Amino acid sequence: MSQPRVVVLISGDGSNLQALIDESRNNILNAEIVLVVSNRKAAFGLERAKNAGIQTLYFPLKPYRDAGRTREEYDSDLASSIAEFKPDLLVCAGWMHIDSGALIARFPGRIINLHPALPGEFPGAHGIEDAFAAWQRGEILRSGCMVHHVIKDLDAGEPIATKEVPFEMGDTLEGYSNKIHKAEHELIVESTNLALEKLHPINR
Ligand code: GAR
Repeated sequence: MSQPRVVVLISGDGSNLQALIDESRNNILNAEIVLVVSNRKAAFGLERAKNAGIQTLYFPLKPYRDAGRTREEYDSDLASSIAEFKPDLLVCAGWMHIDSGALIARFPGRIINLHPALPGEFPGAHGIEDAFAAWQRGEILRSGCMVHHVIKDLDAGEPIATKEVPFEMGDTLEGYSNKIHKAEHELIVESTNLALEKLHPINR
């Protein structure tokens, strides 16, 4: 039987993409990564994908903005390009775009997102920094990371799995970020497997 097909969306370094690539090679991730999409040309994750022989798609928003086209048109065209790869699941691994709704409409229940904070806490692009500042103010003792189903609200939606990462005396932002990233690299693989197990097979 062929492996489930996964498309990974990134915007940056792609260390979580690398975890997926590595564990797919080790047969821990029960999926084939069929495409890596980036909205940023300089995203190092694109290099990681190319090195692994995975097809890439650079899909920037700027040309749409420059032409006066809408965010919905961008997401809708992106959804069509991704659909050609017949994915079972889309994994947002550091994808710094908020879907206007077109991706969710095209792949309902088939998009998951990694976020470096626990459910209901610190949404947005600075989850680790915001949690660290809250710890310094004495408001929290732990943060963590989660993978959740994507809905229209930012960094919200039913969690698939979470990992708590406690703060320890002497933690610096850099040291704590490294702990979160280490936890994320395990979580993204576990959660992708879990999400795929729960999906109904699609007819191709
Ligand atoms: C990860 O920490 C991920 O949780 C975060 O972007 C980073 C991507 O790292 N995503 C968000 O903040 C989403 N709101 P990577 O490019 O090295 O995989």
